[in-house]
Amino acid sequence: MKIRKATKKDIPKMFEIFKLNGSKYPKNLALKELNEMFSKSLIKPTYIVVEDKKEIIAFGGFIPSWIDNMVFNIFWVNTNPKYQSQGVGSRLMNDLINRIKRTKNIKTKMILISTKIPEFYKKFGFKKVAPKYDGDYILMVKKLK
Ligand SMILES: CC(C)(COP(=O)(O)OP(=O)(O)OC[C@H]1O[C@@H](n2cnc3c(N)ncnc32)[C@H](O)[C@@H]1OP(=O)(O)O)[C@@H](O)C(=O)NCCC(=O)NCCS
Repeated sequence: MKIRKATKKDIPKMFEIFKLNGSKYPKNLALKELNEMFSKSLIKPTYIVVEDKKEIIAFGGFIPSWIDNMVFNIFWVNTNPKYQSQGVGSRLMNDLINRIKRTKNIKTKMILISTKIPEFYKKFGFKKVAPKYDGDYILMVKKLK
């Protein structure tokens, strides 16, 4: 199993996994956001993929905040349903957190996520900031030192 930065070629497979997981998020917008990694925007998302036997089985993204580059978001952590509950999402989460930790020149960092499944994120040290701040979504934070 290999965890690496996504390339443009990986986008269709990432989009496929996104669709398989049945998110209510608008699909055309999701595809634009995946492509944004390769845009000329000043602040771009970085997507990370998990590859197993040359197949993309999971992906997730992170992006620094526009207001403060010490604040990061992790979003769209998605494992292909066929490979869920085998530890893939946890390996991906640890990789995403470590990549944010290693971001150069910034010592203190904070990661914010918005999720309906806080149980999953608690395992990585995220704490609730605002329960039900947006419908069923819970805002969670993890401070890195
Ligand atoms: C959340 C997700 C990425 C976890 O990926 P995974 O590869 O299955 O992760 P792991 O095997 O490391 O961990 C699985 C654990 O996460 C937790 N978990 C996953 N989905 C959950 C849910 N809907 N509700 C509560 N806990 C959940 C459980 O503790 C689960 O353990 P179990 O399989 O023994 O029940 C995957 O379930 C997924 O892609 N879900 C759909 C997309 C999604 O909701 N992403 C999160 C957006 S905030």
